[in-house]
Amino acid sequence: MNNPHQNARTAIHSRDLIVDRHRQGRPVAVIAAELGISTRTVYKWLRRFRQGGRGALANASSAPARCPRRLARHRIALVLYLRRTYRLTADDDGTANDEMAAYYARRARGGLGLIISEGTFFNDKLGCVAYLNQPGIATDKHIDGWRKTTTAVHACGVPIICQLMHGGRVSAPRCLHQGQSPVSASDGQSDGFVLYTNSGAEKDDRLLQGDWPTVTFPPCHTLTIAEIERSADGFADGAARAVEAGFDGVEVHGANGYLLYQFIDPDLNRRDDAYGGTPEHNVAFAKLVCRKVRAAIGPDKIITLRLSQDGVDSFTGAWAGDTAYAKAVGEALHDCEADALHWSSFDWRDNRDPKSADPIPSILSDASDKPIIVNGGITNGKSAESALTRGQGAMVAVGRPLFARPD
Ligand SMILES: Cc1cc2nc3c(=O)[nH]c(=O)nc-3n(C[C@H](O)[C@H](O)[C@H](O)COP(=O)(O)O)c2cc1C
Repeated sequence: MNNPHQNARTAIHSRDLIVDRHRQGRPVAVIAAELGISTRTVYKWLRRFRQGGRGALANASSAPARCPRRLARHRIALVLYLRRTYRLTADDDGTANDEMAAYYARRARGGLGLIISEGTFFNDKLGCVAYLNQPGIATDKHIDGWRKTTTAVHACGVPIICQLMHGGRVSAPRCLHQGQSPVSASDGQSDGFVLYTNSGAEKDDRLLQGDWPTVTFPPCHTLTIAEIERSADGFADGAARAVEAGFDGVEVHGANGYLLYQFIDPDLNRRDDAYGGTPEHNVAFAKLVCRKVRAAIGPDKIITLRLSQDGVDSFTGAWAGDTAYAKAVGEALHDCEADALHWSSFDWRDNRDPKSADPIPSILSDASDKPIIVNGGITNGKSAESALTRGQGAMVAVGRPLFARPD
């Protein structure tokens, strides 16, 4: 007969076992298998434990709920992306140099839990390179270059993953080969313009005089299915080289207006094949990439997938379908190979949906059952704690404050 007290005791017992095993660093899937329960139940109890007040949060900080051990040791994490001053400081052939190693190591010494590198190209095909002086992980020389950074960062006890990106239709025209047009989910043309840091120093570096030039993007053409496969293979090859260079894993860049984003954004993807037409199809390319990357780097390396609503050519962009679309995207990513999703925004609380107050990271995390890294406007402990609780973050990612104040 069903005894509610017994059921409650069993539930509390399970919760304690889940939390204990989680603290021992066991992955969620292993805990679920050992206790004969679903991973969803494990996540549910870990989430409740984490939301159980300040004490729970403090306990969780060394073994974060929903944050797989291979992802990071600390919840307050990370990030940095650089732009001239400082990003896009690689040598002309894309080799990461000593200056970059010093830059990353200085941030690592400041006490981060994980560093995600700046967006890195993985080959020179199909318009993958997006910026002049963007670093690459496409050649043996690139591997040697990045090894200096990974060694310097590891010496500070901090893991580092390589962000792999393909620019798609917002690749700078000067990075395309003669006569080459950029690629995207569908034909079209971005009405944005190429971003460079508009500083006197950069003008000097680039020998520019007079007004700062505005460079627009050329018309793009639709990727064929064969090209999608080839491009996903390129991500996987890049991931393997990144691991050879000493990275602890990779971030697949599905955000900020670049190629994979152009498939996920329903306004830019007008396909009606396996890679467009529904939320599941729109994320199919990103999932294919994660699957191939996992096959290339094995089960122990980190894979994160970065997502956003807006892009470098449209900072106020919002997904058509608002939070309902975000939920559908999360559900479609449930079986994605990524260990965690990474929500990118300039303000993580701003879901740009007048009908809903739910923050997108929590929607994505619930719908996908995956840990989420929350980014955007986190500048101090209080805002980080809010992103960890209200945003359901497993970690927070910090950009501009770390560019400016590395220590
Ligand atoms: C100068 C600059 C360079 C950036 N470079 C990257 C990049 O390479 N890859 C990426 O995913 N995001 C990049 N971003 C976006 C940031 O990662 C982050 O999403 C954004 O700055 C908002 O977070 P914050 O409020 O902590 O700065 C860049 C942002 C800035 C301002």
